[in-house]
Amino acid sequence: MSDPTSGSFDADRPQRKPGTAARPNVSRAWDNWSGGKDHYPSDADIAAKIVTILPNIRDSVRASRRFVQEAPRYLAELGIHQFLDIGAGLPQATGTNLHEAVQAVQPEARVVHVDNDPNAVMRGRAQLISSPDGRVVTVDGDLRKVAEILSNPEVTDTLDLNRPVAVCLNALIHFMGDDEDPPGMIRQLMRAVPSGSALTLTHATADYVPEASAQAEVVYRQAGLPAVHHRSLQQIADLVAGLDVLDPGIVPVERWAAPDCTAEPKPALPALTDALGYALVARKR
Ligand SMILES: C[S@@+](CC[C@H](N)C(=O)[O-])C[C@H]1O[C@@H](n2cnc3c(N)ncnc32)[C@H](O)[C@@H]1O
Repeated sequence: MSDPTSGSFDADRPQRKPGTAARPNVSRAWDNWSGGKDHYPSDADIAAKIVTILPNIRDSVRASRRFVQEAPRYLAELGIHQFLDIGAGLPQATGTNLHEAVQAVQPEARVVHVDNDPNAVMRGRAQLISSPDGRVVTVDGDLRKVAEILSNPEVTDTLDLNRPVAVCLNALIHFMGDDEDPPGMIRQLMRAVPSGSALTLTHATADYVPEASAQAEVVYRQAGLPAVHHRSLQQIADLVAGLDVLDPGIVPVERWAAPDCTAEPKPALPALTDALGYALVARKR
């Protein structure tokens, strides 16, 4: 990424004074953990601090990034050709982005990436390019305003909400406190799409390493990053009540594999003791 003090990168210029590093933010810290290069030293610093508390975080984020490709790819194989990816994050310079994974299966697939970080939106518009037969747009939107996302003309021009849509809420819902009614947000989104639509979700948990997760939470807050609301397996199941969770169920993100995975069977995996997030794919009846 360009030097934050150089003036060549302008998404969050108002936050910076000459000679100072940008304040850390969620998309860029996530980029650092996932092995990307789109972050500033301040993001790398906070990311490194969290690694000392949660040593599995880089592996967990990389597993989440695999899920971001693999779960939509699986849904494309099942015949879903429309994807609404909210909290899409920064484009992956070195990996496969969601639209690339689904358009490899369905070149005419239509994908809307949504984020409330102007930097992620600007980079998405520049870098997330559709296959010639499909369509990809990146829009500014906030999960706290579901109705605005659903009525955004770029969204309604790209997606036919009368046909099945995969709603992707990956590494996003844990930024919503219980008082913001995340199950209500999910219900509102899933009500807007027809039967046969799907949901993909990854969500932070403190089930495996409760003390370290609480410690990390304090560090996020001190750095000015949004609070992460860890939820238990049962609380995550409650978020998707009314939807049919597909195999392999709600599992640590490292353990999620599409049921149609044709890879050679792996030797038995050792027990996971330090999972930091769950993943699931669910379908609307
Ligand atoms: C941890 S990143 C996840 C990126 C990607 N979904 C993934 O799983 O790799 C979370 C993203 O959600 C965005 N975000 C956070 N709160 C949001 C909100 N209320 N509405 C839309 N996007 C939000 C952040 O800007 C960030 O890009």
